[in-house]
Amino acid sequence: MLFDILTLFPAMFEGAFSDSIIKRAVEKGLVSIGIRNIRDYSSDARHQTVDDYPYGGDAGMLMKPEPLASAIAAARERFRAIGKSPTVVYMTPAGRLLDQNIVKELAKRETLVILCGRYKGIDQRIIDKYVDIEVSIGDYVLSGGEIPAMALVDAVTRLIPGVLGNMDSAETDSFHSGLLSHPQYTRPEVFEGVSVPEVLLSGHHANIREWQKRKSLEITRERRPDLLDRHCGD
Ligand code: ADE
Repeated sequence: MLFDILTLFPAMFEGAFSDSIIKRAVEKGLVSIGIRNIRDYSSDARHQTVDDYPYGGDAGMLMKPEPLASAIAAARERFRAIGKSPTVVYMTPAGRLLDQNIVKELAKRETLVILCGRYKGIDQRIIDKYVDIEVSIGDYVLSGGEIPAMALVDAVTRLIPGVLGNMDSAETDSFHSGLLSHPQYTRPEVFEGVSVPEVLLSGHHANIREWQKRKSLEITRERRPDLLDRHCGD
């Protein structure tokens, strides 16, 4: 999977992608993440202006279309050179709410351009002309699309074949089957007077699976009944 992230704050990504699973995925060559500074695509070399006042007189500033169009063109060109046509994702609170189904869909693409907005958003003509999907990570407003982009890259990367070993397989993740995951325990067997549930110590695999499934359903019913309607049943 090749990512190309367009942002006004490239430094924000340095820490996020330099550890753990994403770092290993990059080292193994399963994922490549390019970070492009939108400011470098401003036509105004002196001030590198990337924002302007909105028509209509609303408060706040918008990201100007020209630097965004140029940055998207540069990302597309990078992929065209290797025969790929990317899906362009714009991170915005007005987008489709990110869930594991969208993550699975995006993980099937080979190349993703992720556009991070700042200020009050971006000129609508960029969305209309260049964006394939608008994605939100939740019903709250962040200062920009960078943190949402990190969440998206992380969730998609976990699904790339070979990224996760058996130890942290995606199959045991919450949401993989559409349910929240069951409670988990590690040693010691008794912690502050509370024991690990008996069944987990039994070594009886069928009973353990049955308990995990039941707990998973119970927790999902209690916390996220909306997920049960969409549950795929495996
Ligand atoms: N930009 C600001 N807030 C956001 C959110 N909740 N999701 C995606 N992009 C955003």
